[in-house]
Amino acid sequence: MKKNIQNMDVKNKRIVLRVDYNVPIQNGQIMDDSKIKESLDTIQYLLAENCKIVILSHLGKIKSEEDKLKYTLEPVANHLKKLLNTEIYFTKDILSPDLVNRVLQLQPKEILMLENTRFADYPDRLESSNDAQLAMFWASLGDIFVNDAFGSLHRTHASNYGIAKYIPSCIGFLIQKEIFSLDKLIFNPKRPFVVVMGGAKVDDKIELIENLIEKCDFLLFGGGIANTCLKALYFNIGQSLASQNDNIIKRLQKIMLHNKDKIGLPLDAIVGSSYDESYVKYKTIDKIDENDIILDIGTKTLEKYKKYIENAKTIFINGTMGLYENIKFANGTKEFFDMISNTSAVTIVGGGDSASAVKNLGFASKFTYISSGGGATLKYLGTRNLPALEAILEEDSIETLDL
Ligand code: 3PG
Repeated sequence: MKKNIQNMDVKNKRIVLRVDYNVPIQNGQIMDDSKIKESLDTIQYLLAENCKIVILSHLGKIKSEEDKLKYTLEPVANHLKKLLNTEIYFTKDILSPDLVNRVLQLQPKEILMLENTRFADYPDRLESSNDAQLAMFWASLGDIFVNDAFGSLHRTHASNYGIAKYIPSCIGFLIQKEIFSLDKLIFNPKRPFVVVMGGAKVDDKIELIENLIEKCDFLLFGGGIANTCLKALYFNIGQSLASQNDNIIKRLQKIMLHNKDKIGLPLDAIVGSSYDESYVKYKTIDKIDENDIILDIGTKTLEKYKKYIENAKTIFINGTMGLYENIKFANGTKEFFDMISNTSAVTIVGGGDSASAVKNLGFASKFTYISSGGGATLKYLGTRNLPALEAILEEDSIETLDL
């Protein structure tokens, strides 16, 4: 593809590189550096091409001055330095004439990382509202824009969507890998193709469910989505997490009505109670009481789902079977992941929470592909349209930089 980094003349150029270093950090320690590692191919390629590199990334959401202390990219710059074994210059500056001078001093093979692009979001939301002046300023720091931030391709922010309007732009190796893998695995899957949808966020996923039900052979539900389906079928789900949105419930009813033979729902559950922390009980799904909270799937559900999983040739997993973060309710998700990892099927994990669950429960190496995107992966699978990617692929005329 013409807009791939390897088809662009980047040699000796000044590159503005957008990455997704939105990683979990606790007390200055990076808890999961996979997104940083996944960006290394593109950085190393640019270094080999003698480029001067300016790195941009967002981290967290910035809604106050305190958020700026919490979400500095400095620990990430230090970590990248170790991974690349080369100097990474870090600047707290994201927008000033001094920054332009600093960038102009960069030598070939030098890397300058700017502070979190979302610092421009407080107090004025300049990054998230794709402020044209800000996008133009960042674009002015390079000859070429390389976007490799797969995880934020669904956003129309200044640092990913905006910059592409003003300088020649292309996509890095991580985005290429993600799109290639998702296209191949989801749009041309070996069958039977089983989709697993779980997790807490229901309302965000309805579009994806409507889309995937057309493509897959079986759709197995867990977590809050399963609860909402059960609620839509008039089961008592007690105090369990479920959508309160009538429109979502109606859409789920329609999906279930038209796809009876494709859909798998839990038969049993491990429940907790909002009144008593020590209350943990096994129940079949027709015996849920008013104060019960469904927090995991039970053995009957695992047996039922096993029949689909054993025969599957492609499995896409989005979400968990319950509140796996609490050891009392982790068994269903763990057993289910174990079952999936023991098949010969191609297994793809998509969505930030599912990726964390797979990593935290020790299954990371046992799945074929773990997407680095959360919202971006789901948006791509649901609509195949990622605005910040389209901004590059459709870029035919470059607007003049007017600073
Ligand atoms: C992610 O972690 O999914 C991406 O970095 C996007 O982050 P955002 O939802 O804060 O835009």
